[in-house]
Amino acid sequence: MIAKIVVAASGSGSNFQSLIDAIDEKRLHAEISGLIASKPGIGAISRAISAGIPYDIVPTTARRSSELLASELLSILKIRGANFLVLAGFLLKIPDSVIKAYPNQIINIHPSLLPKFGGKGYYGLNVHRAVIEGGETESGCTVHLVNEHYDEGRILAQKKISVLKGDLPETLAARILKEEHKLYPAAVQQYIEQFPKNIKH
Ligand code: GAR
Repeated sequence: MIAKIVVAASGSGSNFQSLIDAIDEKRLHAEISGLIASKPGIGAISRAISAGIPYDIVPTTARRSSELLASELLSILKIRGANFLVLAGFLLKIPDSVIKAYPNQIINIHPSLLPKFGGKGYYGLNVHRAVIEGGETESGCTVHLVNEHYDEGRILAQKKISVLKGDLPETLAARILKEEHKLYPAAVQQYIEQFPKNIKH
């Protein structure tokens, strides 16, 4: 049976698109059965509509509890028949109860060489700014499993690139994003194909 993936995104969704493209090109043997968007109007939703993928919005404001987010995520994952939850620039912390319900089935991509420049506050351009200000000569991206600690789950794949003289957070981010688009579908494919076939939800 083909694995069903639900993707969660908060922004433009270019990594989501790279997964859609990899499935079309048969580099990734899976079905994306849904998108979870953290707010209306984001690029990822337009990409879902173009690809005919159903989407749900989980509105997130500071006033909403983690329990409510967890129950919404769990019911979406169930309705979509998800075997895996793949985070593609999803900026909310996945509640512990969702991680427990999908052990080793939640995958994330992060735009640095974890464990460096990971954890709370390291997202988007903040990551690349810190890399440049720290005088690093290398950066890159990391695909990892999600556990209860931000950006600390088992590393599945990494790609290194050089930080160039004169790099700005924006130029470094753009070069790394290109690598993310190659690394993520390949790493997801490799991981799901060796995953026990008897998972069910
Ligand atoms: C990507 O660079 C991804 O690695 C990063 O958000 C961007 C999303 O871009 N994720 C994180 O920083 C997670 N901590 P996209 O919406 O174009 O895929």
